[in-house]
Parts: sequence; structure tokens; C-alpha cells
Amino acid sequence: MHILLTGGTGLIGRRLCKHWLAQGHQLTVLSRKPDEVARLCGANVRGIAHFDDIGTQHVDAVVNLAGAPIADRPWTRKRKILLWDSRITLTEQLVTWLERREQKPDVLISGSAVGWYGDGGERELDENAQPVSEDFASRLCIAWEETAQRAETLGIRVVLVRTGLVLADEGGMLQRLLPPFKMGMGGPIGNGRQWMPWVHIEDQIALIDFLMSRDDGRGPYNACAPSPVRNRDFAKTLASVLHRPSFMPMPAVALRVLLGELSILLLGGQRARPDRLQEAGFTFRFTDLRAALENLLGRH
Ligand SMILES: NC(=O)c1ccc[n+]([C@@H]2O[C@H](COP(=O)([O-])OP(=O)(O)OC[C@H]3O[C@@H](n4cnc5c(N)ncnc54)[C@H](OP(=O)(O)O)[C@@H]3O)[C@@H](O)[C@H]2O)c1
Repeated sequence: MHILLTGGTGLIGRRLCKHWLAQGHQLTVLSRKPDEVARLCGANVRGIAHFDDIGTQHVDAVVNLAGAPIADRPWTRKRKILLWDSRITLTEQLVTWLERREQKPDVLISGSAVGWYGDGGERELDENAQPVSEDFASRLCIAWEETAQRAETLGIRVVLVRTGLVLADEGGMLQRLLPPFKMGMGGPIGNGRQWMPWVHIEDQIALIDFLMSRDDGRGPYNACAPSPVRNRDFAKTLASVLHRPSFMPMPAVALRVLLGELSILLLGGQRARPDRLQEAGFTFRFTDLRAALENLLGRH
């Protein structure tokens, strides 16, 4: 199969490339730095700067993951525009390009996040749930999904991957949490009651591959392990895997001052359930947080 990826140089994208290269697929990655693609994604992966650079070559599947990092810095007006443009404007360009193609791909797998639901509090969220509260992150995900969904009118199967917190050994949130936790200065955020829907990177790759290969999969899928944990339990488990204490809470008020609106992302959460994936027959390898962390961090 020829697969086109946006965001192929990112945390999830690089692992997908490795996985699909090993299966013998042909890969093209749209990137702001196309010359870097072969180094980051694999020697045989072609980097392109514009969708039209594909030319007349047939594409079987598109995976759309590009987007500026959402939790890296405060959501100033300028940052919000970048977060929006890097997802919604890029996805609009993708759909416009798809419209022009004579031979369409079979499937578009497009990124989203459990943040689509907003802060869900104690509510259990399957894919039938509606957004509980709207903040910038949920509006961003709603618009991202709606834009990608337009490709259905072109006869393309559209899958929306509402990803939770991806736990990986090569980057992402876990690697940023490690320094304070290793120093024994980690702890819960705010009151620590908020739910954290996590997913091991291996399961994230496997579920995207699963959704790509199932001809009847379409619409939204919660991509998170079936056992979300509260933030304070996440902190306790991470500290315990590292053999460190975890009693230093990060007060909500300090976060609000430091991060402004972005603090919503850390102080809120989603008790999301991957019902549709499980109903479709997908089996998570990692359902226990401790086992997932031990797998990624080794037994410290
Ligand atoms: N990792 C998670 O825990 C998680 C959770 C929920 C949702 N997601 C979403 O899933 C997607 C993939 O996640 P990831 O962790 O693999 O992301 P990532 O490592 O941050 O990579 C995203 C890719 O997006 C592209 N990008 C970055 N800034 C951009 C900009 N300003 N304009 C256009 N493209 C830009 C980059 O590709 P180039 O540099 O090659 O252009 C980058 O490799 C993201 O959109 C993310 O929001 C991730």
C-alpha cells in the first residue's frame, strides 16, 4: 500500500513509519522539512513539502496527524492561531487536494484527542457522548474532526482517532514528567481527582493499523486504554515505578498563574472508554498503568 502521512515526523508518526516500513508499505510524509524525512522516518520514506508534490502516483490511505504541540506553551492569541492553522487549515488543504484527485484513497485516518469532550469530570465517556464542556482544546478538536469528515462526501472512509495521553519512551508527556519525578519532586496536579485516559505507544500504533485495515471502521474512536486512572494515582504509580516519593502536589492556583488557559488541560480530564475499538475486536496489550510504565521505563 502507498500511505501518505502528515505529522509523520512526530512521536506517533515516526513509530507508524517504522511499523509500516517493516510490513513493506510505500510511505510518503508531508513535512515542513521534507529533507529531514528520510533521516527521521526511514531511508525509503519520501518527504514532500506540498500535497501536489505527490503527482499522479496513487495513494491508498492518508494518515493526518500534523499539528503544533498543544501543551508546550501558554495559549496566547498567536499560539492559538498556530494550533488552529497547523491542524484545521492543513486539513482543509488536504481535503481540497483529495477533491481534485481522480482516484481517491480508500481511507483517511485523521487525528483528534479525548480533549474533544472537554473536561468530562466524573462522566464516563464513550464515543456517543457529546462534549461536556467547551474550551479551546475541545473547539479545536471539534473543528479538526468536522474538516476531516468532509472527505466522506468524496467516498473516502474517514476514521477519527480521539487519542488520550500517549505514553512513550522517545518523547511526549511522560518524558517531560520524568525529571521532576526522578528528583522526588513529582506529585498530583491540583486535587489530583481528574481522570487521565492514557495509552501505551505500542497500542496506539496497533490500533491505528487495526482501524486502517478494517473496511467497516469509520467515525470516532477513543484511543485510550480501557482503564483510565485519576491524576493522583498516575503520579503515585509513576513515582513508585521510579522508587521515588510523590507527595509534592502542584497547586491549581500556581498552574493557573503559570499557564493561564492552558491549565484547563492539566486540571481537567476525561474518563474515556475505548468502547468502539473493543466492540470491533481490538485487544489492548497494555491495560494496567504500572505494567505500561514498567515496560517503558524498565524496572528502576
Ligand atoms: N502524543 C499525544 O499524547 C497526543 C494526544 C492526543 C492527541 N495527539 C495529537 O496527535 C497528533 C500526533 O501526535 P504526536 O505526539 O505524534 O505529535 P508531535 O510529535 O508533536 O508531531 C506532530 C507533527 O506535526 C507537525 N507540526 C508541528 N508543528 C507544526 C506546525 N506549526 N505546522 C504544521 N505542522 C506542524 C510536525 O511535522 P513536521 O515538522 O515534519 O512538519 C510534527 O512532527 C498531534 O496532532 C497531536 O495533537 C497527540
